[in-house]
Amino acid sequence: MQTPQLSRLGALLLASLAATALAAPDTHVSNKASFATDVIYQVVTDRFVDGNTANNPSGAAFSAGCTQLKLYCGGDWQGLINKINDGYFTTLGITALWISQPVENIYAVINYSGTNSTAYHGYWARDFKKPDPRYGTLTDFQNLISAAHAKGIKVVIDFAPNHSSPASQTDASFAENGRLYDNGALLAGYSNDPSGYFHHNGGTSFANLEDGIYRNLFDLADIDHNKAAMDLYFKQAIKAWLDLGIDGIRMDAVKHMPKGWQKNFMAEIYAYKPVFTFGEWFLSPDESDPAYHDFANTSGMSLLDFQFGQRVRQVLRNGSKTMLDLDAMLDASATQYQQPIDQVTFIDNHDMDRFQVVGASGRKLEQALALTLTSRGVPAIYYGTEQYMTGNGDPNNRAKIGAFNTSNTAFKVIQALAPLRKSNPALAYGSTQERWKNSDIYIYERKFGSAVVLVAINRNLSSSASISGLLTALPNGSFTDKLGGLLNGNSISVSAGAVPTFTLAAGAVAVWEYKPASYASPLLGRVGPMLGKPGNTVTLDGRGFGSTKGTVYFGASAVTGADILSWEDSQIKVKVPAVAAGSYAVKVAQAGGAQSGSYAGFQLLSGSQVSMRFVVNNASTALGENVYLTGSAFELSNWSSSNPVGACFNQIMHSYPSWYCDVSVPANTTLQFKFIKKNGGAVTWEGGSNHSVTTPASGAGKVIVNWQP
Ligand code: NOJ
Ligand code: NOJ
Ligand code: CA
Ligand code: CA
Repeated sequence: MQTPQLSRLGALLLASLAATALAAPDTHVSNKASFATDVIYQVVTDRFVDGNTANNPSGAAFSAGCTQLKLYCGGDWQGLINKINDGYFTTLGITALWISQPVENIYAVINYSGTNSTAYHGYWARDFKKPDPRYGTLTDFQNLISAAHAKGIKVVIDFAPNHSSPASQTDASFAENGRLYDNGALLAGYSNDPSGYFHHNGGTSFANLEDGIYRNLFDLADIDHNKAAMDLYFKQAIKAWLDLGIDGIRMDAVKHMPKGWQKNFMAEIYAYKPVFTFGEWFLSPDESDPAYHDFANTSGMSLLDFQFGQRVRQVLRNGSKTMLDLDAMLDASATQYQQPIDQVTFIDNHDMDRFQVVGASGRKLEQALALTLTSRGVPAIYYGTEQYMTGNGDPNNRAKIGAFNTSNTAFKVIQALAPLRKSNPALAYGSTQERWKNSDIYIYERKFGSAVVLVAINRNLSSSASISGLLTALPNGSFTDKLGGLLNGNSISVSAGAVPTFTLAAGAVAVWEYKPASYASPLLGRVGPMLGKPGNTVTLDGRGFGSTKGTVYFGASAVTGADILSWEDSQIKVKVPAVAAGSYAVKVAQAGGAQSGSYAGFQLLSGSQVSMRFVVNNASTALGENVYLTGSAFELSNWSSSNPVGACFNQIMHSYPSWYCDVSVPANTTLQFKFIKKNGGAVTWEGGSNHSVTTPASGAGKVIVNWQP
C-alpha cells in the first residue's frame, strides 16, 4: 500500500503524464515560437482587476472608482493572477495573455489642456530594466508567469523601445523630460542628452516613413537606436524579461523605428530565447502600404493584422463594406503576407473604438468573434469585448472591466471556438478558400491536409437565405454546428463534396469540422522563427512527421542526427544549419522518406547581427530616382540591383544629396558595398571600386562614403 502522500504525488505525476500524452506538442504552452494554436486576450493591466490596493498610486495620479480614465485605476499583476486562478480565462478558452508594457513608467501627472494624464497605459517608460511598482513587484511578475503557465496560458508583454516618455525640448520641467534610466542609473534626459541617445528632430507630421521614424511620435522622446549604448540597453532589457519566462512580445510602434535596427534586435532575441513577436503598425480602414507587408515579411516579426481588423469592422460593425470586400481582403492578404497564419487578428483594441456600438445588436460582435476565431492568423481578443463593453476613442475604449459574466453569448462563442484552434489544425495552419458569397453571406473553408473547417456567416440579421450549390472538402456524412446553434447555425450533410440546398438563418453563424484520426504523410504547418543564424533553434509544427527522426531540409541542405533536437509526430526542433546565408524553403522528410511541402522564406542570416547606418554623400538624383544600397552579404542583398536595400532616406538624419539606410548586417565582418540609383527598372551603379567596411562586433555602426561617379 502506498502512503497517502505518495499516492497524491503519484496522482499528480499521472495527471501530468496524461496531459503530456493528450496534447500535441505544437499546442503546449512551452511552444513559445508559435502562437498558431493560441487565442490571445489583451488586457490594459491597470483596467483589469485591482488585486492589491497597497500598490495603487495616491493623490492626483489615482482615480478611485476609475471615473477619470487618464488616471491610474489600480489594476495589477495580482489581479490577473486572481482571475487566472479563479478560472475566468480557462473557462473562456484563451491560452495567452497580452499585458501592458511591464517596465517602470513615469510618475509625473501631466496636464494636457486641462486633463490630468498618467502612464496607466504603460507606454511612458523610464526604466526598461525595472518592473512598474503600480503593477507589482518582480516577485508578483514571476508569480504571474507561473500562475499562467500552470493553467496552460502564455504571457505576452507589450514592449515600446521607440521612446521613453513625453518631453519638451525647451521646457525641461515638463513631465519627467523623457528621462531614461538603466536599472536606476540615469542615462539621459531629453534636454540633457550629451551622448545623443534621443532624436532631436521635432515631432512627426506622419508625412512619410522616414519622418515617422526619426522624429518624435507625438511628444514622446524618440530613441536613437543607432547609438551603441541604446542598442545594448534594449537588448539587455528584453533579455531580462525573457529570462523571467515571458512567452511572447508585442512590439509597439514598429512603423516608427528603423527596420534595420528592429531586424538586428529580433536576431538577438531569436538567438537567445525565441518567442513569438508581433509588431504594431497601425493601418487605417482601406489603407494599403507596401512597407507594411515588407515589414511583416522581412523584419523577423509578425504584425497585428490591421488589414483584417479594419475590414471586419467595415463589414460587420459599420456596414460600410460587404462580404465581397471581406473576401477580397482575405484573398489579397493570402499572398501579401508570406505567412498569413502568423499575423495577429483582432476586431478592436485600445487604439480604436470598441467593436460593440451602444444600442447595436450584439449579434454583429458575436459574428465578428466567430469569424476571427476561425480565420487565418492568431486571434487576439480585447479585454471586455466578451462582455460587450462599449466606448469610443481613447480613453473611453479603456474603461475598467465591470463584469465577468460567463453565460452571455459572446463569452460562449469564444468558449466554443477557441479550443478548435488546438484540436483542428485546419484553423491553426490551414489555407483559406471562399466557398459561397454574396454581399451578406460568406462561407469559407480552412483546410490542412484532410482536416477541414467550414464556416458560414449571414450578416443579414433579418433575412435567412437559401444556400444552393455549396461545395466543400468535408467528407461524406452529416455535420453538426460546433456552436451548437448558439448563433442559429444548422447542421449539414455532405455527399461527394456537395452540400444539398439548406437555409442559413438570419444572423446565423455555423461552424462544421472534420479531422482525421491520423496523418500518413508529413504536413508542415508552420516554421518559426523565420529568421535566424546558424545554430539557432527553429520549431516546425504540423502533423504526420512520424515518431522516428527523419530529415529537415533547408533548401537542399539536409539536417539530421544530433542537429535535430527533438522529433515528434506534430513537432520538430532543429538547429539552423551552417550553410550560406540566404532565403531558404524548409521541408520535412519522414524517416520512411515521404516529404512534406515546402515552407518558403526562411531568412538564414550570415551570423550575429548589428545595426549599421550606411551614408552616401553627393548622390544627386533625377526626378523619380532614388538611392539604394547593395553589397557582398545576404543582408545587403548579395549585389542585387533588382531587390536592393532601400530606398534609402534623404531628409532627416542626413539630407539630400546625402542618403542613408539603416541595415541589419553581420557583426564583425568586412563587407563590400555600393550605392545604386534606381528609377523604376533603370539602374545606375556607382563607378570605381567597391566600398569596404568592417562592421562592429556589437552595438551599432555607421559608415559614410562619397558617391563615386
Ligand atoms: C501604439 C499604442 O498601441 C498606443 O496606445 C500608444 O499610445 C502608442 N503606440 C505610443 O506608444
Ligand atoms: C530630387 C530628386 O529628383 C528626387 O528623386 C529625390 O527624391 C529628391 N530630390 C530628394 O528630396
Ligand atoms: Ca493595485
Ligand atoms: Ca522613432
